[in-house]
Amino acid sequence: MSRIAIIGTGYVGLTTGACFSALGHDVVCADIDAAKVERLKQGDIPILEAGLDEIVREGLESGRLTFVLGAATAAADCEFAYLCVPTPQGEDGSADLSYIEQAAREIAPVLPSESVVVNKSTVPVGSTRVVERALGRDDVAVVSNPEFLREGSAVHDFMNPDRIVIGADDQSAAIKVASLYLGVAAPLIVTDPASAETIKYAANSFLATKISFINAVAAICEAVGADINDVALGIGYDKRIGSEFLKPGPGFGGSCFPKDTRAMVKIAEEGGYDFHLLKGVIQVNDEQYDRTAEKAIELMDGDVDGKQVAAWGLTFKARTDDLRESPSLEVLGRLAARGAKVRAYDPAVSHQLDGIEVVADPYDACDGADVLLVLTEWDEFKWLDLGEVKARMATPAVVDARNLLDRSALIRRGFTFRGIGRR
Ligand code: UDX
Repeated sequence: MSRIAIIGTGYVGLTTGACFSALGHDVVCADIDAAKVERLKQGDIPILEAGLDEIVREGLESGRLTFVLGAATAAADCEFAYLCVPTPQGEDGSADLSYIEQAAREIAPVLPSESVVVNKSTVPVGSTRVVERALGRDDVAVVSNPEFLREGSAVHDFMNPDRIVIGADDQSAAIKVASLYLGVAAPLIVTDPASAETIKYAANSFLATKISFINAVAAICEAVGADINDVALGIGYDKRIGSEFLKPGPGFGGSCFPKDTRAMVKIAEEGGYDFHLLKGVIQVNDEQYDRTAEKAIELMDGDVDGKQVAAWGLTFKARTDDLRESPSLEVLGRLAARGAKVRAYDPAVSHQLDGIEVVADPYDACDGADVLLVLTEWDEFKWLDLGEVKARMATPAVVDARNLLDRSALIRRGFTFRGIGRR
């Protein structure tokens, strides 16, 4: 078993650290936020992630998982240092590497000789070299080991990955990193750092492409009177296409797809290639926010100013409490900009938001509303009492942007209704 330092305890770092400790390694997780470190030491998890609290608790109890303040403290005695710090979008769309460089500079003086620094953050192609330069250590190898964890099922995804990708110039360093995953059954792809970094961007860009594609086909379905659910089913059975990531919705969001697609366009541009296709994917996604808002506007006969809008779902998808780049906020923002008063319910959000009144009950959100938008696919929305919803609303009108509700039940009860890509 190995000694691993994890630098950064966000979604990726905390999940990676906790899962490595569950695999039997000794893990020290570092963060710069003292209050967060104190909370984590008590087993208090700041994010909603299925199964994470259990494995953090087990790790703390067994002593295999500890939390410290500062990267250097964690890295002083490690065999592996995983960089899991944010790579936010810079002003020009490219990824901002300053956190990664800062973390590398901080651990450089204390890293034991022959240790391996592993890049887990999503970084542009060539970043392994940036880390090598920031470290300035010939006796420390730098390896890329991108993550493919979905929020909400990150622990499951870590333990049951579709593949493990390791990018390294130094084969022995790649083997050392691969050995950390003993006990995890998955195909292993060992390649050079640039290819590993490209795999991460290409994977997210491809998945985003599938979503924009199905959203575009949904628009066609509306025009020709076809049903997107049947169309997605019909194409998804083709093994070459696959049925995953073919769910139409209000557009993709979250901390990865919007940022990574824009970064990929930028990477291409810097390499002298105009990635028209991916630009189109991003454009279709922006239009999907507009199209979803437009459906609600239509149901209010174009008269939005002063109208009461109800929303179910604020997070960028279900089973997370993450609001980053949430399509829901994009859509509601468009309605608020036209003078609508927005009241929303989300099972994972209890604080108030700018321009949105957040309530603790899905029916209360509907009080006096002229339209209800379903924007996140939380399961519980399916089972709510439509009679009660109708009684609370001023006008029974629903935009179901996740095709989640029972359409015939809505129509039977006299709701006017718009789904995505449905007759
Ligand atoms: C994603 C990738 O899936 C993961 O591998 C990566 O490393 C991190 O980014 P995540 O951002 O957690 O994970 O969410 P994901 O489940 O991929 O969904 C992203 C967005 O696409 C969400 O807004 C979701 O609602 C939307 N989506 C997804 C659809 O609209 N339709 C689909 O069929 C799938």
